[in-house]
Amino acid sequence: MTRMGTARTVPHHIAIVMDGNGRWATKRFLPRVAGHKKGLDALRACVRHCGDLGVKVLTVFAFSSENWNRPADEVSGLMELLAAALSREVPQLQAEGVRIHFVGDRSALSDKVRTGLAQAEALTAGNHRLVFNVCFNYGGRWDMTQAAAQLAARGEAITELSLSRAMALAHVPDPDLIIRTGGELRMSNFLLWQAAYSELYFSDKLWPEFDAAAIDKAIADYGRRERRFGRTSDQVAPTAPRTTRKAA
Ligand code: FPP
Repeated sequence: MTRMGTARTVPHHIAIVMDGNGRWATKRFLPRVAGHKKGLDALRACVRHCGDLGVKVLTVFAFSSENWNRPADEVSGLMELLAAALSREVPQLQAEGVRIHFVGDRSALSDKVRTGLAQAEALTAGNHRLVFNVCFNYGGRWDMTQAAAQLAARGEAITELSLSRAMALAHVPDPDLIIRTGGELRMSNFLLWQAAYSELYFSDKLWPEFDAAAIDKAIADYGRRERRFGRTSDQVAPTAPRTTRKAA
C-alpha cells in the first residue's frame, strides 16, 4: 500500500495468524482438534465483525506448509474441518456478501476438497463487501518460489512488480495490520513478501478467545501508529506537534 501518515482507524486489509487453538484445548483436557473447532467459531465471528467494521480484506493462516508435520490425527482433523466448513459456512458467507479465496498449494489436497474450494470461490465471486483469503497449505517461501517459477517458465524478467503480480495474493493490496494471537512473537512463514510495511500486533490471547472486543483493541492500537513507509516523521506529518510524534 502507498498510504502514508497516521494509520487510518479501520485497516483496509487485516491478516491474522490464528495461534493458540491447541493450548486452548489442552488447558481443558480436550483433544487439540477441539481447539481448532472452537477456533473456527472464533473465525466465523471475526469475519462477521470485520465486515461490520468496514474492513475490506481479511486474510487468515489456517494451515501452513509446515503443519503436515503435526500428528496424523490433527492433520486429518484439520482437513475434515475444512471440508465441513466448506459445506456449512459458505452459504452464510454468500449471504453476508463475502468473497472467499483459498491461497496456497492445492496439489496435496484431495480431489473432493479441491473441488469444494473451487465451488466456494465460484459461488462467492460476485461479492464485494469483504474479500476473505483463507491461506491453506500456504507458506511465504512457497509463494515466492512459485511466483519466481511462473516468471521463469514464461521467460519474464524478475522485478518487484512482476514478482508481486505472480504471487498468490496479487488480487489484494498488502496487509495494513497483521495480528498474531497466542503470545508468540514471530511470523512463521506467513506473508513474508507482503508484510514489508504492515503494522504488527501481538496478543497473548489464544485464538478461540480472540473476540470482537479484542479485534477492536487491535484496531485502536493500529490507529495510533504512524506509518512512514521509509520516510521521516516530518515528511509524513509535517504539521503534527512534535510531542505527538513517535521516535524513529
Ligand atoms: C494454530 O494454533 C492454528 C492452526 C494450525 C489452525 C487454525 C485453524 C482454525 C482457526 C480453524 C479454521 C480452519 C479451517 C480449516 C478453515 P496451534 O494449533 O498451533 O495452537 P498452539 O500453539 O496452542 O498449539
